[in-house]
Amino acid sequence: MRVIAVPTLNAENLRRELHAKGVVDPSVRITKRSGEVLIPIIGPAPLDLARFGARYEDEVHASLSPRRTPPNPRREIEERLRARGVPPELAPRRWERIGDILVIRVSAAARPHANVIAAAFGEVLRVRTVVEDRSGIHGPMRTPDVRVLWGDGTETVHVEAGVRYALDVGHIMFSSGNLAERVALPARVQPGAVVVDLFAGIGYFALPIALRSRARVVYACEVNPVAFRYLTTNIRLNRATNVIPRFGDCRDVAPRGVADWVLMGHFDAREYLDVAFDALRGRGTIAYHELCPKEQYPDALTRRLAAAARSHWMNVVSIRTRIVKSYAPGIVHATAELAVTPQTRRSATEMQISDGHLGTSVME
Ligand SMILES: C[S@@+](CC[C@H](N)C(=O)[O-])C[C@H]1O[C@@H](n2cnc3c(N)ncnc32)[C@H](O)[C@@H]1O
Repeated sequence: MRVIAVPTLNAENLRRELHAKGVVDPSVRITKRSGEVLIPIIGPAPLDLARFGARYEDEVHASLSPRRTPPNPRREIEERLRARGVPPELAPRRWERIGDILVIRVSAAARPHANVIAAAFGEVLRVRTVVEDRSGIHGPMRTPDVRVLWGDGTETVHVEAGVRYALDVGHIMFSSGNLAERVALPARVQPGAVVVDLFAGIGYFALPIALRSRARVVYACEVNPVAFRYLTTNIRLNRATNVIPRFGDCRDVAPRGVADWVLMGHFDAREYLDVAFDALRGRGTIAYHELCPKEQYPDALTRRLAAAARSHWMNVVSIRTRIVKSYAPGIVHATAELAVTPQTRRSATEMQISDGHLGTSVME
């Protein structure tokens, strides 16, 4: 438990050299003290301190405040890579933190140094494990393709907007890109509502809605056994007593005729619109997601949903569309909230007359 005390004038030069040697302790703040700077270290400094007018001090370390991540992690990572002979420009520009696990992508040029790069990220950002996202998310169960580069273990608990999600990043996706949706949706679900989540995963939408909107009940359907296990864990972890998990294909396990809201957080949602309409009690809202060619957005999306509503004898009250993010060149991840009401004999006639308009208000 040591620090190096150095006159303020020489502090930056010494700090740089200590960084390059990898001996600065990133878990503790560098602190000023009357004309001096105290640099916390993790071991003896392999350089001549006298050159900087610096000296060791014992026992001070513990009184310095801890720091979770350094103020400029990028600079620290680059300094560590340089010290280990890896060109710093090979370090990924972005990373994603899920609980205490870091997910990075490694370019072809960086591949031979992947483990050293991962170690620098892991040490500086103070995570338990660094994994490589090798090729995105695959298949209907949305399975990731990751490998551990540094550290140990891929199971973690991620906290987002006060909701705790246990998951294994080796087997389960966590889309940080959908954060806005997860946070905003509960505000629109009225207290007492019945919600059916057809693609619940580990509870990405079901849990925030259950906990924040005071929905009466949220049915959460999930077909992947690993995701389902975490879903039930997360229900317990968050004491979400109003979530009812249902294991299996939503086509078989979703309740019918009960819902005020139906959630369809899956890119194959289009194929399950009939399940969604069957789940509704009458008037209700379907939160729908799809991948849509950019130039067809939002017209193709609203037309598709309006046609589906019509074929299920529903009138469209409104369709609100939004682009969640760009998914691939020319393709967007789009979402729509489709509010519908059952057709009466009279409204069915009106619908035919106003076909093509459907009384739809399309908003972005
Ligand atoms: C993409 S994840 C949920 C993502 C989350 N909504 C988000 O946007 O962050 C979709 C989940 O639906 C599940 N799933 C896929 N097809 C299903 C089906 N037919 N019935 C129930 N669950 C299904 C997958 O296993 C996966 O866990």
